[in-house]
Amino acid sequence: NLVARSPPYGHHYTTMNCLQSWPEPVVRVQSLSDSGMRVIPDRYIKRSSEVPSPSLCSSGGGDNIPVIDLGELYSADRTIREKALARVSSACREWGFLQVVNHGVSHELMEAAREVWREFFHLPLEAKQGYANSPSTYEGYGSRLGVEKGAKLDWSDYFFLNYLPASLRDEKKWPSLPPSCRQKIADYSEEVVKLAGKLMKIFSIDLGLEEDCLQQAFGGEDIGSCLRVNFYPKCPQPDLALGLSPHSDPGGMTLLLPDENVSGLQVRRGDSWVTVKPVKNAFIVNIGDQLQVLTNANYKSVEHRVIVNSDQERVSLAFFYNPKGEIPIEPAKELVTEDRPALYPPMTFNEYRVFIRTRGPCGKSQVEALKSPR
Ligand code: OGA
Ligand code: NI
Repeated sequence: NLVARSPPYGHHYTTMNCLQSWPEPVVRVQSLSDSGMRVIPDRYIKRSSEVPSPSLCSSGGGDNIPVIDLGELYSADRTIREKALARVSSACREWGFLQVVNHGVSHELMEAAREVWREFFHLPLEAKQGYANSPSTYEGYGSRLGVEKGAKLDWSDYFFLNYLPASLRDEKKWPSLPPSCRQKIADYSEEVVKLAGKLMKIFSIDLGLEEDCLQQAFGGEDIGSCLRVNFYPKCPQPDLALGLSPHSDPGGMTLLLPDENVSGLQVRRGDSWVTVKPVKNAFIVNIGDQLQVLTNANYKSVEHRVIVNSDQERVSLAFFYNPKGEIPIEPAKELVTEDRPALYPPMTFNEYRVFIRTRGPCGKSQVEALKSPR
């Protein structure tokens, strides 16, 4: 398996598959930003081929990821339903990304969840350090992904927590401040899980599968889900750093609540990066690697990254909806044909995600490596 093939990682790897501690002292990016430094440390400077090159970023143009009004999919008018489904279909097959509006999640709750997290990140450092995370579970307050010593780092801090399965949920590890934080996380997550369930049905229908096919393949009621709240502080040299390096999301699908005022997410489109313009009260939804595998690459898990800027911080909530960790995920048999043989062998999500948790974000190299030899 992937773990056994990985190179050894030194002392912070006591047993294979169990990452104990960070290889270097953790530096909070927010504290670098707050220090007023004008020149960022070398650790955050990307190779010039990786940094945002304005010529390859089509942000000014009209290109934006497709926006879907979810209500249209339930319209009494069949033509409206069919058109909306066709838009979902091309979004998932060509972009790997869509924005959904009219999705049923309370706008007040979305805003409250985002603002309670903004407040959390604005607490004094000592209040947050109590939640400092380790690579054994990643739960808590963190500032890096991956445990390779000397690796280049991204210009962001985050908070990661488990929501499902309930056996992994530990509310004591969630922030106790601001006082409403835990309740907001619980309310928000419950709503977002419902929305993800609706999307799983819509995707199944689009793929010509039984309505509950994808959900069953993910483990039915026993899906996993977790929340990663990203905090991108102001960066004095935004052209040299990235808020989050290019990656595809390893899980099933991601429902992202972006900052309403500050953009930063870029999606790969061929050789260029398209800056997503958030639509008010929308979720940005993207296909993760597990749905790419399950759909035999009919749906694409597309690479994305985050750029930073020098005058505004940015907060985003990435809710990951994943298969149950122990189920082998492989292409649905209905999507495997003589013309399109299975592109991937089965692998559980627990095995799969060790890779990103060890190496950090590395574009799409993992799902590519998984491809069945042929
Ligand atoms: C992520 C992610 C994008 C953003 O957390 O996986 O891609 O805009 N976040 O913060
Ligand atoms: Ni992502």
